[in-house]
Amino acid sequence: MMDFMCIIALFALITVRCACAAPPNFVLLFADDLGYGDLGCFGHPSSLTPNLDRLAANGLRFTDFYVTSPVCSPSRAALLTGRYQTRSGIYPGVLYPGSIGGLPTNETTIAKVLKSKGYSTAIVGKWHLGVGLNGTYLPTRHGFDNYLGIPYSHDQGPCQNLTCFPPDVKCHGYCDQGVVSVPLMLNENIKQQPADFLELEKAYSEFASEFISMAVKNNRPFFLYHPSHHTHYPQYAGVDYAGKSPRGPFGDSLMEFDGTVGKIVQTLEQTGVLNNTLIFFTGDNGPELMRQSRGGSAGLMRCGKGTTYEGGMREPAIAYWPGFIQPGVTHALASSLDILPTFAKLAGAVLPDVQLDGVDMTNILFNRGSSERQTFFYYPVGPDEKNSVFAVRWKNFKAHYYTQGALHSLGTPDSNCSLLALLHHDPPLLYNLEADPAENYNLKGADWDSVRNQIQAIKEQFEASMVFGESEIGKGKDSALEPCCIPNCTPKPKCCQCTSAL
Ligand SMILES: *[C@@H]1O[C@H](CO)[C@@H](O)[C@H](O)[C@H]1NC(C)=O
Ligand SMILES: *[C@@H]1O[C@H](CO)[C@@H](O)[C@H](O)[C@H]1NC(C)=O
Ligand SMILES: *[C@@H]1O[C@H](CO)[C@@H](O)[C@H](O)[C@H]1NC(C)=O
Ligand SMILES: *[C@@H]1O[C@H](CO)[C@@H](O)[C@H](O)[C@H]1NC(C)=O
Ligand SMILES: *[C@@H]1O[C@H](CO)[C@@H](O)[C@H](O)[C@H]1NC(C)=O
Repeated sequence: MMDFMCIIALFALITVRCACAAPPNFVLLFADDLGYGDLGCFGHPSSLTPNLDRLAANGLRFTDFYVTSPVCSPSRAALLTGRYQTRSGIYPGVLYPGSIGGLPTNETTIAKVLKSKGYSTAIVGKWHLGVGLNGTYLPTRHGFDNYLGIPYSHDQGPCQNLTCFPPDVKCHGYCDQGVVSVPLMLNENIKQQPADFLELEKAYSEFASEFISMAVKNNRPFFLYHPSHHTHYPQYAGVDYAGKSPRGPFGDSLMEFDGTVGKIVQTLEQTGVLNNTLIFFTGDNGPELMRQSRGGSAGLMRCGKGTTYEGGMREPAIAYWPGFIQPGVTHALASSLDILPTFAKLAGAVLPDVQLDGVDMTNILFNRGSSERQTFFYYPVGPDEKNSVFAVRWKNFKAHYYTQGALHSLGTPDSNCSLLALLHHDPPLLYNLEADPAENYNLKGADWDSVRNQIQAIKEQFEASMVFGESEIGKGKDSALEPCCIPNCTPKPKCCQCTSAL
């Protein structure tokens, strides 16, 4: 009885506090190709992530948090729209520098939702939702007031001659050949091409700090989205972090990202808004295991990037808001899809008038309550309407209807991670993820028929309601659309080179 009263009282307190307080600021941190097992606070023995570990220790750590795709662009589309990427057309695979398509501008991003409530909005880092003709798909066309960053992956341009670590350690590998070198953009203009990897993080954290300070000075609530390039291949780090972690280049790159997190938190503190800011951290997809020790770790989760096993799509996640979110761990089922509805709720903004796939997470965040989400659907890198959902999670169970390894996950001891043949499972492989998070023990036999039938019904209902948007990636590429700092120079792509002070 006493406990019950306490819960009621606490609930009332939180409801009142949320209703009275000014709408919070939001900082959304998004790592790149970071695995479930890569952070110190998720058990990695040699990663140094003191700032993220502090957010975890004083915030809420999620154990069962999912992104909607095992690769980059679709995962980002779903994060920003609260909708599976199949709806917005960000499939199959990822966007390229010369892609004709991009995230359709009639999609409503978190930035647009918050702008409707007077928020100041900025993105710093990796966009990867399209550039297009004259910047049609850039962040500035999607509700972000300010942008500094490389508009796609930093390996989507030749890197063999670029410096990734001081004083002049060349990047490991070649990256993509035959395209322009990666540009650094400020809003819609190219500031530098190729981007200087040694100075990039410093430019990013200064941009983030200036944005926060300016918003606070102008008395505006703000939304800062920081999709980092770390820890994607090829890893890089400036002088402050190179050689500083015990985990080699991967560890240094992760540590540099963690350092930026620390600088953002410090700015929030110095400007006096830390108590009124919700910081949310997660990553875009699982680790690129084919890079071996230069790839990340999925911890005990099976396989990695490119697959619909847990290692491809279960990500570390942390929510931090001192005074509002009590420190702890939650096992509630949650997804990057849920961030838009949650932020909208807290900002008092109306939800976009479209089919959303996300649910409000505030009951998990503030009351440590149960999730409104009971199901999660695992789409492969290249979903199509025939072989659509590869796996379904329902409560603690996961059924795999199809499995397929990926080149990204090549070289792991488990040969299924790199087995490229598409395997259809009838009956589906069934795992109890609470007892068996590593997906080792298939639950066979009639005892599990009711679970399989329940999941089958959920899958059929979901697939019947899914309307695929026209594939934006299927629109193809045109090299003339690749961003070039000297638009009419020759010979392309080599002539697209401009140095400029940051
Ligand atoms: C955006 O426009 C396209 C083309 O007209 C349409 O098919 C799609 O449904 C629209 N999407 C939204 C979210 O309104
Ligand atoms: C794109 O920009 C170029 C140069 O500013 C201009 O000449 C061209 O008309 C623009 N194209 C479209 C479709 O807006
Ligand atoms: C890299 O440098 C070598 C040697 O200077 C040069 O031949 C090659 O064209 C350069 N490659 C690129 C992609 O810039
Ligand atoms: C922020 O919250 C902490 C913990 O509740 C409190 O100690 C501190 O005084 C608050 N700071 C401000 C500026 O409100
Ligand atoms: C690969 O997956 C199949 C189920 O599809 C399983 O029978 C087999 O044991 C797995 N192999 C390994 C190495 O785990």
